Amino acid sequence: MKGPIPENILEDILGKIDIVEVVSGYLPLKKAGRNFKALCPFHHEKTPSFMVSPDRQIFHCFGCNESGNAFKFLMRYERLEFPEAVELLAKKAGVILPQTSSEDPKVASLSTQLYRINELTALFYESRLNSTEGAKAKDYLLKRGITEETIKTLKIGYAPEKWDALITYLRAKSVPLSLIEKAGLILPKENGGYYDRFRNRVIFPIADIKGRFLGFGARVLDNTLPKYINSPESPIYTKGKNLYGLGSSRDHIRDKDFVVIVEGYLDFLMPFQAGLKNIVASLGTALTQEQARLLKRYTQNIVMIYDGDSAGELAALRSLEIFIEEEMSVKVVSLPQGSDPDTFVRKFGIEKLNEEVSRAVNIFDYKIKVLKTRYSHKEVEGKAKISSHMLETISKFKNAVLKSEYMKRLAEELDIREDALFQEAAKINNQRERFDSVSPLAQRKTLNINPTERMLIKLMLEESELIHRIKDSINPADFIDERASRIVTLMLDFIEQGKKIEASLLIHHLGDEEISKIICESMFLQDDLTEKNREMLANDCIKRLRTEKIKHRKQSLHEQIKDAQDSGDKQKLEGLVQEFHTLIKKGEGT
Ligand code: CTP
Ligand code: MN
Repeated sequence: MKGPIPENILEDILGKIDIVEVVSGYLPLKKAGRNFKALCPFHHEKTPSFMVSPDRQIFHCFGCNESGNAFKFLMRYERLEFPEAVELLAKKAGVILPQTSSEDPKVASLSTQLYRINELTALFYESRLNSTEGAKAKDYLLKRGITEETIKTLKIGYAPEKWDALITYLRAKSVPLSLIEKAGLILPKENGGYYDRFRNRVIFPIADIKGRFLGFGARVLDNTLPKYINSPESPIYTKGKNLYGLGSSRDHIRDKDFVVIVEGYLDFLMPFQAGLKNIVASLGTALTQEQARLLKRYTQNIVMIYDGDSAGELAALRSLEIFIEEEMSVKVVSLPQGSDPDTFVRKFGIEKLNEEVSRAVNIFDYKIKVLKTRYSHKEVEGKAKISSHMLETISKFKNAVLKSEYMKRLAEELDIREDALFQEAAKINNQRERFDSVSPLAQRKTLNINPTERMLIKLMLEESELIHRIKDSINPADFIDERASRIVTLMLDFIEQGKKIEASLLIHHLGDEEISKIICESMFLQDDLTEKNREMLANDCIKRLRTEKIKHRKQSLHEQIKDAQDSGDKQKLEGLVQEFHTLIKKGEGT
C-alpha cells in the first residue's frame, strides 16, 4: 500500500480534498443528517446503504462493507491503482507530486502530447470553419439549422480541401510527424510522406467529460460516401468508452435525472440546441458497459431514441440490455419512418420531441411490440419465438421482483403457462441458479468485531478530547481483537507525535482492508450520540473492556488447563491454575 509517494504529501492531499465532492462527481448524493447517502456503486441495492461522511472524510457501505477514504473510493470506482488515484486527487487538490521512478514518463507524456495535438487540431479546424475557405461548410451547417452558438459550444470545425493543411499547420508548430500519426490525424503516402486524414469535411471534435479532445468525426458536405470518417483508436481514444456531448450535458442529466440517447452527431446537436439538453450520442455503435457506467454517475434512467429505420432491429434493442444489467431503467422512443431526432425536431419542433420522450415505452413493452409485428403471437411457433427473445431480455434483470413480474406479464401476453416460461428460461440460461436466485440481498459479510471494542474505537476516533482523557487508562493489549489493538496502537502513536487523529489518515497508515472496514463501519454506527452519552459510553466501554479481557483470558486459561490435565504436565498445570485464581480475584474487584 505504501508506495513511493511520501506520506506527508498524501496527508496534504487528503487534507485539501473533500470526499463528498469526489464521490458526488460519480454518484448523486443525498443529505442524511450529518452524512450523505447513495445507492452503493459497489453492489446492487434498492435502498441506499452507502454513506459518505464529510466530517470524517470516509465512506462506508452497510450492504457490502466496502469502505475507505477518497483514494480508496477512486481505486474501486475508477478501477485505478493506488498511485493513479493519488495522481488524480493531487491534481484536484493542486498538490504537486514529486516525480517517482515507478511511473513511466514516456507513457504519461505520450497521452499528454496526444491531447495537446488534438487540441491544436481542434482549434485549427475551428478557425478554418470561420475563414473564407470554410464558408461553404459554415453555410452547410447553418442551412441544416445549426446556430453559430452551437458551433462555438461544441467547437465544430472544418478540415480544408487540401492534402496537407493540417500537416503544414502542425509541422510549423514543430509537432513530430510520428505523433501526428499516432493521433490518427494523418496517413502515410505510398511513396513516402503523409497526407491529412480529414479533407473537405465538417469536423466534430469528440471530447471527454474533462474537456480533453480524444478524436474527431468528419462529415462530407454532400452525399458522397463515406458520409463520416472518424479518428481511429489511439492511446487516448477507445471507442465505446465515451459518449458524444456528455461534457456539455452532464449537469442537465443530473438535474433532469434521465438521459436521452441518440445515435448521431446531428441528432445530438439539434435537440440540444433547441433546449433538450440532457442528451448524449452513441455515435452509431453498440452501447457498452463502460458507457452505461459513465451515465450511471449522473442518472439511473435511460431514454433511447431510435430512428424510424433502426427501431425495429432486435440487435439494436439487445444493445440496450447493457443498461438492464447495470440495473438502470431503460425506455425506448421510436420515431416515424424516415425521421431521426435531427429531422424530427426541424419538422415538428422540440415540444413534439419532448412529448415523444415523455411517452417513451419501457424496454419490455417495446420489445414485445416489435416481436409481435414479426411473429404471430396467436400461433404456437410464434409464441415460442417471441418468448425465447423476451426471455433473453428478462434474464438480464438482476432484481427478482422485476424478473418475476415480467415473467408473469409475458405469460399473460402470450397466453401461456408461467411454468413453461421458467423451464425455457432455465434452458436459455443454462445456469438455472442465475434465474432462480432471489435478488442479491446485499450479502452481508459481518466484520465480526466485539461491539465494545468497536464502540470504543469509534469514540476515540471522534472525540480528540476524549482520547486525550482516556489514553492513560487504555492499553492496546486490552483489546481482544488483534485488529482493534492495531488501530488503538496507531492512535496512541499519533497522539504521541502530536498528530491529529483522522480516520482517513489512519486507514491509509494501517493499509489493511479489514481494519479500514472496522474503522469506517464504527464511525457511521450510532451517529446520534450526545456529548454526555459519549462520556458515559466511553467509561462504560473501558470498564467492560477490562472485564471482557478477563473473561477472555479465563476462557483461554480454562482450555489450557484442560490441555495440561490431559497431557499430565503438572508443572504447567500448577502455574495455570494459579493464574486462574488471581484472575478471578481481579474480576471480583471490578
Ligand atoms: N456513422 C459513422 N460512419 C458512417 C455513418 C455513420 O461513424 N459512415 C456514425 C456517425 O457518428 C453518425 C451516426 O453513426 O452520426 C449515425 O449515422 P447516420 O444516422 O447515418 O448519420 P446522421 O448522424 O443522421 O448524419 P446526417 O443527419 O448528417 O446524415
Ligand atoms: Mn441524420
